[in-house]
Amino acid sequence: MKGLVLAGGKGSRLRPLTATGAKQLVPVANKPVLFYALEQLVAAGVTDIGIITGDTAEQVEAAIGDGSAFGAEVTYLPQPAPLGLAHAIITAERWLGNSRFCMFLGDNFLRGGIVPYARHFRERPCASQILLRRVEDPTSLGVAVLDGDGRVQRLVEKPREPVSDLAVIGVYFFGPEIHRITPTLVPSARGELEITDAIQGLIDAGHEVRAQTITDDWIDTGKKDDMLEANRLVLGSLQRRIEGDVDAESTIVGAVVIEAGATVIGSTVRGPAVIGARTTLRDAYVGPFTAIGPDCELSGCEIEHSIVLEKSIVRDVERRIADSLIGREVIVERSPLRPQAVRLMLGDHSRVDIV
Ligand code: DAU
Repeated sequence: MKGLVLAGGKGSRLRPLTATGAKQLVPVANKPVLFYALEQLVAAGVTDIGIITGDTAEQVEAAIGDGSAFGAEVTYLPQPAPLGLAHAIITAERWLGNSRFCMFLGDNFLRGGIVPYARHFRERPCASQILLRRVEDPTSLGVAVLDGDGRVQRLVEKPREPVSDLAVIGVYFFGPEIHRITPTLVPSARGELEITDAIQGLIDAGHEVRAQTITDDWIDTGKKDDMLEANRLVLGSLQRRIEGDVDAESTIVGAVVIEAGATVIGSTVRGPAVIGARTTLRDAYVGPFTAIGPDCELSGCEIEHSIVLEKSIVRDVERRIADSLIGREVIVERSPLRPQAVRLMLGDHSRVDIV
């Protein structure tokens, strides 16, 4: 079985963070969300992996290389434009050949991995095996309607009126039958060749489409709060590891990772939390469920339940920062300038809550 990982598309919901960067490279517990997909495919014995790329191909390739660091052999498959998930399969068709494959959306995070589902598909191959999960609000997702015997009857992409609470999650298994359906698809209202339409095509053509309803934690990391939630889940099972320098005036409580080269001076870190390599904390408090990236500088501040990306500075901020996602090379600091004012330089679609 081959793996097809989707790392193209546009990250409009996480703007401005993803205005220039790939949304699949935004870190969860200091590791790009895309890495979890690759690791989980390899753990399921899928090592021949094609990665669909778009405008951010260079960054994705720089992060993953030839895949050997993951125990995989990676082939990059540039998609000319983000024309939909089914279009990504068309893009990969020649590379896929007649192989069965697992398609994994590069921004989807599945806590427990895919081993049992991959095994099930190998043991009982069918045209498609999809994974479903009950969600409160399915309106921004693909949804499945099952018949009385639990078979997939119908799939609807982002239904305005809820037709079921069973969301189609971003890990799909396909046989080569799918390549007979994709050429027949027409663009949806949002101008994309939808994967839900492709799977519906398999059903309509009489192929077996099997669904498994899972209870594992799953997150489509498209939005800030979803990123924070994925971060919370991963940090929840963190093992304590202190490799950086911690001075005698600092207190490190619970499951905390302090990477090599990090320096902690007169600070408190209460886990679960991770402090990236070469980051400095001085007179700072880092609270639970926080991931501070590498090469950051935090002084005279308090932060919790947040993600800070690499090379950012937070300095002398009186109020505790919480529930925040701070991008790369950002500076948040108290300013001595008069008149006293909040001075902002924010990207498009930024959001600031001031108390
Ligand atoms: O997350 C699960 C949902 O993913 C499913 O419930 C939906 O049925 C499915 O259509 C999809 O919905 P999204 O609208 O959330 O997909 P998104 O545009 O976010 O794309 C998913 C990933 O695939 C993302 O990492 C970007 C990548 N992608 C997307 C498109 C449209 C590509 O590589 N190429 C593309 O053409």
